[in-house]
Amino acid sequence: MKINNNYLNLKDSYLFSKIAKRVSEYKAQNPDKEVIRLGIGDVTLPLVPAVIEAMNKAVDEMGNADTFKGYGEEQGYSFLREAICEYYTQKGVTLSSDEIFISDGAKSDLGNILDIFDNDNTVLIPDPVYPVYVDTNIMAGRKIVFIKGTVENSFLPLPDENTAGDIVYICSPNNPTGAVYSKSQLKLWIDWAIKNNAVILFDSAYEAFIQDTSLPTSIYQIEGAKQCAIEFCSLSKTAGFTGVRCGYTVVPKELVRSDVPLNKLWLRRQTTKFNGVSYIVQRGAQAVFTEKGLGQIRENIEYYLENARIISETLTDLGIWFTGGKNSPYIWLKCPNNMSSWEFFDYLLEDYGIVGTPGSGFGEQGEGFFRLTAFGNRINIHKAMERLRKLSI
Ligand code: MLT
Repeated sequence: MKINNNYLNLKDSYLFSKIAKRVSEYKAQNPDKEVIRLGIGDVTLPLVPAVIEAMNKAVDEMGNADTFKGYGEEQGYSFLREAICEYYTQKGVTLSSDEIFISDGAKSDLGNILDIFDNDNTVLIPDPVYPVYVDTNIMAGRKIVFIKGTVENSFLPLPDENTAGDIVYICSPNNPTGAVYSKSQLKLWIDWAIKNNAVILFDSAYEAFIQDTSLPTSIYQIEGAKQCAIEFCSLSKTAGFTGVRCGYTVVPKELVRSDVPLNKLWLRRQTTKFNGVSYIVQRGAQAVFTEKGLGQIRENIEYYLENARIISETLTDLGIWFTGGKNSPYIWLKCPNNMSSWEFFDYLLEDYGIVGTPGSGFGEQGEGFFRLTAFGNRINIHKAMERLRKLSI
């Protein structure tokens, strides 16, 4: 028996588990200190009434022999896939419901999608970025090439004549920096992918936070994307589903590599390894895409964006460099006094009782930076900012 040795090349623990461990150690040693968590991007507002109503109804259906549901379609119920198609129509994108696959969240599918690609592919991963892309490719032993996001390129790396790879991850709005690619910038990646026979894995989990109407909320709003991109989306941050679990992945039928439509491969993978998301959850997700549901989640998103504005205002007053927070729930700041990311983490936790996420956890380029999330409740955001205003830097 041989284990997958690639796992030995991973860091000891996943970023957010490491932070949670540090915080619980601190809490155990300092039980009287109140800690405000602006670290992991976990929502605090409850599910909206439209979702609760739909889920309650679905629970009743499950309790009645006439309406009870057993196994559903692995790729999701058509009522939800059609509701998502309609959501895309509103964005000016035409999709058919068999191009949409319902999942238990973007994180799972971003990892699982790798099943349909050979391990021999070279993967381009922006740095800094959501750690799941790196870790899942390390697990598969794939060659990873990092593309640098820096202050100079506004954390939006672009391809040039030397860019070589088979798969590229793009996260826009970006986690952790909050940077958002424009249509013309995404077009450069699309042209590059088509020319190089590559595939773009486009993570749009934060698309609903985009306020600037000139920015794309789906890669398919740009010509050519259906020939080269798979899009991953989630209801976690958009509709408060972090604990409920539901997302979706779009694999266009036009996306063909080695004469095989990737849609067909993904369907085969899902029907074999996945039994779908629960009926109750999918009914709740369907309610998100109704007029009522979209209106209600919009209010929650505005609440989080107001939190982001309050954090941004405090950082501006303190003279701390930051970006993000406008079309994204994340604020990406430069650690004061040239502190390293983990030094600043410890300093904020120990002296101010605030938890953030060290930028270095998102890649080498994140060293010296720090991420704050706007998903807290307003009282805690104000409290944390009052503490931060006392920062002696
Ligand atoms: C984050 O804080 O980056 C996210 O909550 C992690 C995730 O979505 O898995």
